[in-house]
Amino acid sequence: MSQQVVLTGIKPTGTPHLGNLVGAIQPAIDLSQDNDKRAFYFIADYHALTGLKDAQLLRDYTKQVAAAWIALGLDPTRVVFYRQSDVPEVFELNWILACFAPKGLMNRAHAYKAIVQHNEDNGESDVDAGVNMGLYTYPILMAADILLMQTRWVPVGGDQVQHVEIARDIAQYFNRQYQRAVFTLPEAMIDEHGAVIPGLDGRKMSKSYNNTIPIFGTSDELRKRVFRIATDSSRPGEPKDPETSTIFQLFRLVATTEQTLAFRQQFLAGIAWKDAKEQLFAVLDQLLTAPRERYRDLMSDPVAISDVFRYGAQEARDLAQETMRHVRLAIGQNLL
Ligand code: TRP
Repeated sequence: MSQQVVLTGIKPTGTPHLGNLVGAIQPAIDLSQDNDKRAFYFIADYHALTGLKDAQLLRDYTKQVAAAWIALGLDPTRVVFYRQSDVPEVFELNWILACFAPKGLMNRAHAYKAIVQHNEDNGESDVDAGVNMGLYTYPILMAADILLMQTRWVPVGGDQVQHVEIARDIAQYFNRQYQRAVFTLPEAMIDEHGAVIPGLDGRKMSKSYNNTIPIFGTSDELRKRVFRIATDSSRPGEPKDPETSTIFQLFRLVATTEQTLAFRQQFLAGIAWKDAKEQLFAVLDQLLTAPRERYRDLMSDPVAISDVFRYGAQEARDLAQETMRHVRLAIGQNLL
């Protein structure tokens, strides 16, 4: 049986942090080890462009994200790892799919609706203020990414499920119109421990809350960050509730079961916050020591990353061109 395609896009809009690592990077790398599946992971740089117009930043984030995934264990000979903008077929398909995407479907997309809502709440006379067409048609480009590679599974966070459903809808409109299964129907795949990963202040770890733990700083920087985690005022010796502690929640995401059980006991026995932080720092530091070095090497050797992208784009384009042959034939672009 041929392998099912699993594909996901990574928007290069920030420096990778611990939330990205446990929420997306690690699960995706684990999934790529599954022999029943063929993994396609790519840097969605043209999706980033809808909001990120600073060339230097886009360049930096693209390199950082690629280096992070490789440093953390993505094997570019096993995963087709590429940059969206290196696959022109994506943009050809984007137009074709746009012709199958009802405008109303875009109006109902959450990200767009949230901006409209924000404008309304702020008494803005133009409800579309701040919306460019790239943002508005973002789900179509995403559908092109997905359908081009005949994707079956799309690992994403909860906020992207609707986009995958839109891709599936568009695929169905197309297949139905031409009475043939040109596109595989994709489905979102949500990691079951898609639990919210808390940041320094206890809210979801997110760049926009400025509460992240960056993964590729120095050991010293890591320690400082960990020591900034908010705690309550309970004193050493007082029992502490592991379930409400950010320190414990982060610890369990990166430690072994035995370590976690022992840590829990220490909480109940009244560990001092500073000792708890020291232990969290220790597991994180150990986990990140080797990747940190690989990351530094990759970042100082941009040729290595561009080589990976070049190789990945070739593989991706092979499949993309095959899909496009079927698409062009279906819509009647062939003259014979
Ligand atoms: N929109 C996704 C995000 O913001 C990134 C993305 C772009 C994507 N194209 C994709 C994810 C295709 C899955 C499949 O995270």
